[in-house]
Amino acid sequence: MKNILKTATVLGGAYVLLKGLDDTLEITNYEISSHKIPADFDGFKIVQISDIHSDIVEGLFDAIKNEQPDIIVSTGDLVHHDGDYKKSLDFCRELLSLAPIYAVTGNHDLWRGDYKDFERELWDIGVYTLHSNNVIIHRKSSAISLYGIDDPLSVTTKNINSFLDKEASKLKPFDGYKIFLFHRANWLDYFKDYDFDLILSGHMHGGQLRIPGVGGFVAPRSSWSDKNSMLFPKYFGGYYEFADTKMIVSRGLGNPMIIPRIFNRRELVSITLKHKEI
Ligand SMILES: [Fe+2]
Repeated sequence: MKNILKTATVLGGAYVLLKGLDDTLEITNYEISSHKIPADFDGFKIVQISDIHSDIVEGLFDAIKNEQPDIIVSTGDLVHHDGDYKKSLDFCRELLSLAPIYAVTGNHDLWRGDYKDFERELWDIGVYTLHSNNVIIHRKSSAISLYGIDDPLSVTTKNINSFLDKEASKLKPFDGYKIFLFHRANWLDYFKDYDFDLILSGHMHGGQLRIPGVGGFVAPRSSWSDKNSMLFPKYFGGYYEFADTKMIVSRGLGNPMIIPRIFNRRELVSITLKHKEI
């Protein structure tokens, strides 16, 4: 009995240590340049928050404030599928003192029975939610467009491809720089032939446990139906390029999984747009 207790204490201690080991915030800065980014948008700062899961790490507000964002975008899972949503709502209210927020849903947002109440409260405080549509962002005499589609596995979806075909067909064309927000990075290949200039995504939690030199180890359980992405998922976090489309996958800001984050700190993504002369 004594030995069992001793082993349990050692294992418990090791778990707490591992869970806390990489539990700090890291800021990743990207500079994205394109001739399609209008000169008026040179230096435009986008802070991406993703996968907060109602778990707001200490110092997050100040870190976002320090970035001096022009806009804040949320790529899903602002809230976990259970628990109170007020914490995330209050955090958004605070963030709105810094910049406008544009958001798409993640699977955990939509799994909640009270998601509609949460979204109504988000609207009331001024968060702009995107559902297979776009919003035009103006700066001086120029504009860029921000698109978003809901997470596909969260609504009454039987077939992801037909859901995405249907939702993507609703998107209006825009003659200019196009940014697309979509939660589920393991479906990014679907969008690589679309005409987006920059795709911002999340969901993968950096592969939760990262093997240096190899990559993220495991995809979230809700992605395991996509057999290719269960272990060593293709898009686990970071920067990717496909033809003229650039993609950034946030490793996420929450730490809700039982498996500790290892070599995989919570990540705040900060993007500066740069106009490139032709
Ligand atoms: Fe997710």
